Amino acid sequence: MAVNMKGKDIISIHELSREEIDQVLDTAMILKMKNKLGEIYHPLKGKTLGMIFQKSSTRTRVSFEVGIWQLGGYGLFLSASDLQLKRGETVADTARNLSRYLDGIMIRTYAHQDVVDFAEYSSIPVINGLTDLLHPCQVLSDLFTIQEKKQTLKNLKLAYIGDGNNMAHSLLFGAAKVGMDIFICSPSGFEPDSEITRLARLDASKTGAKIIINNDPAQAAQSADIIYTDVWTSMGMEGEEEKRLQSFSKYQVNSSLLEKAKEDVLVMHCLPAHRGEEITGEVIDGPHSIVFDQAENRLHVQKAIMALIM
Ligand code: CP
Ligand code: NVA
Repeated sequence: MAVNMKGKDIISIHELSREEIDQVLDTAMILKMKNKLGEIYHPLKGKTLGMIFQKSSTRTRVSFEVGIWQLGGYGLFLSASDLQLKRGETVADTARNLSRYLDGIMIRTYAHQDVVDFAEYSSIPVINGLTDLLHPCQVLSDLFTIQEKKQTLKNLKLAYIGDGNNMAHSLLFGAAKVGMDIFICSPSGFEPDSEITRLARLDASKTGAKIIINNDPAQAAQSADIIYTDVWTSMGMEGEEEKRLQSFSKYQVNSSLLEKAKEDVLVMHCLPAHRGEEITGEVIDGPHSIVFDQAENRLHVQKAIMALIM
């Protein structure tokens, strides 16, 4: 039976039920099919999504803006540097004001708490478009992509090699919810946040997902169905770039690491990629890579999210 998600905030996959995740993925499949058939479908006619960006974006901005338009609505890009937020207007007042004009809001910020506060003070659904802590829309799209390629989310081993960052955190939450085994392999000192790991383990104990955090890429990649990586230096961390290049040098996804994985391993990356750092050009352009399918599916999955919650 369909779950009513109208008005729901999408801030963290940990806060979604398995039924809600399935509903997002099932709806995305229908919307992707309609899109491929060229079918016009306007469930959000007359509705407006505001999109606040404090950080750069290629995929998130374009896929949300095109997505709301394809659903019959309108997307309003709001650069945080042009809003009164920048001059000290509070998040709470901004949220209360924007709720009077918009039907939904997507925010990309640094501090995760800003999105949480925004949701608390707004009367419209709030979508997390990436914070320093989490990137739920990316991982919901990634689950959709994995299901599309493997026809299942169960009995799979995902090895994430790299920084214990927002991507690692959302992958932990996503894998734990759907019962996928996940290995997070980061250099010492760059492991995922312990509270996120604790919450993911709670979900994993219900779904049977295995969660292993280690520092050995070869062990993590061994017999993996999916190898996932992300940049070593996330947005906002640029000051640490030099140090990170050294700390992560043995954590590159390259063809010798791929040899440890299953023969039909999928290589994933949320993009943007720094070729030659976390992943070689040969691997990202190679036959195992599905990075552009991932990027495309942001559109279909986010349309599903908007259609369900707005
Ligand atoms: N993967 C992702 O969120 O890309 P952008 O930073 O380009 O939006
Ligand atoms: N971890 C990266 C993801 C970009 C989509 C960052 O936060 O910059």
